[in-house]
Amino acid sequence: MTKRIKVKTLLGNPVLGSDVLVKGWVRTKRGNKNILFIALNDGSTINNIQIVVEVALFDENLLKEISTGACIGVMGKLLESQGQGQQIEINAASIELYGKSDAETYPLQKKGHSMEFLREIAYLRPRTNTFSAVLRIRHAMAFAIHKYFNDKGFFYLHTPIITGSDAEGAGEMFHVTTMDLSNVPRNPDNSIDYSGDFFGKSTNLTVSGQLEGELGALALGDIYTFGPTFRAENSNTPRHLAEFWMIEPEMAFYDLADNMDLAEEFVKYLIRYALDNCSEDLEFLNNMIDKALLERLKFVLENEFVRITYTEAVPILTSSGKKWDYPVSWGTDLQSEHERYLVEEHFKRPVILTDYPMSIKAFYMKQNSDGKTVRAMDVLFPGIGEIIGGSQREENYEKLLGRIRDLKIPEKDLWWYLETRKFGTAPHSGFGLGFERLILFVTGMLNIRDVIPFPRTPKNAEF
Ligand code: 4AD
Ligand code: MG
Repeated sequence: MTKRIKVKTLLGNPVLGSDVLVKGWVRTKRGNKNILFIALNDGSTINNIQIVVEVALFDENLLKEISTGACIGVMGKLLESQGQGQQIEINAASIELYGKSDAETYPLQKKGHSMEFLREIAYLRPRTNTFSAVLRIRHAMAFAIHKYFNDKGFFYLHTPIITGSDAEGAGEMFHVTTMDLSNVPRNPDNSIDYSGDFFGKSTNLTVSGQLEGELGALALGDIYTFGPTFRAENSNTPRHLAEFWMIEPEMAFYDLADNMDLAEEFVKYLIRYALDNCSEDLEFLNNMIDKALLERLKFVLENEFVRITYTEAVPILTSSGKKWDYPVSWGTDLQSEHERYLVEEHFKRPVILTDYPMSIKAFYMKQNSDGKTVRAMDVLFPGIGEIIGGSQREENYEKLLGRIRDLKIPEKDLWWYLETRKFGTAPHSGFGLGFERLILFVTGMLNIRDVIPFPRTPKNAEF
């Protein structure tokens, strides 16, 4: 019996004259009463394999049912193609129909569909060229992330998804409970009584694995996390998801400069990996989605990232002559319009901004001796804005506790984190790379909803 061969393998090493079995979904069918041409795609590559069908050899009803979207298996001889547009084709000897697809109602018609429409049929959009390319690149990037860290001696640490603390202190958490929400038990002071809840306390989905990641770094040296994170921020933008994936390396004995070096090397490695390993998909996206994509990826590889402090960036923004939606002065948080101005117009390359005002950054960041700024770093990318956020961590127990108290963060939720500063604390640093923002950059897609299979955003959790 012939074993199924994937189209990618077939096209990569075609043995002309051999008998092959391919299985996949019909992209198009055309022809005349004597001969049919079927473009078959099995997802292994952006390229289709052409199936040539001599009508007289097959049952008429079977051929009628092979329409766009149908799933078939084809056995036949691999031949040099007579026609244009492909090198090889399969001359069908037998065809098995696995699943027919009603041509009238199949949502993916030949005409180009809008990204918005494709989101409504997210269960079928992986069958389009664009989304299959994005998903293959997404896979390659996930693989490259593990390879990069493994080769560098980092350990993959699995931090919890359900937690009792707010790692960013921003209060943007989804609660996790098994309580009957129509009858929530109350304490005498009317606050919610969690003692009978599943965990016996208030819990939520994690916003970041960092705090647990720090514990790992203070034992294993270099670790990284790579998992889903959840934020209940009501941001309806092309760069925010309520459920997204984050890669968070955390390193003992790294200061902020080491942290920046790692971040720059890491993202450049990933971009080079994509260029080396995803060329067909990238070329497709370069042609169909963004003509400047390949150029931009190479440009980022070839240029050093600019490194400046927040305090140096503010005067650049205030003297830019730009009309900002959000005015800037020292102490204000930077918006994506400011970040993108620095990257796209002023420096014209990626920028690492450091040493932000303490008041706009998370409690765990190492305090500078000026008493006003912290050892934060944001990596800003063209078209994206912030792609990475990180910092050196405050390793001093008193200073960390002081900041937690100043911000009125519940100490009882973080006691275990504070303990690490009592027992063998060490200078350490880390950062978080937003996986979907990386994929946006690498694919040239414009909306973060289109680089994850099933996006979760405010008022949307379909599929
Ligand atoms: O800057 P953030 O909030 O930093 C942290 O969570 C730190 N604990 C990371 C660390 O130091 N270990 O988030 C990190 C990155 C951002 O730079 C951005 O790329 C991405 O995560 N991100 C989001 N991506 C999609 N949707 C959202 N709502 C995101 N929020 C953050
Ligand atoms: Mg950030």
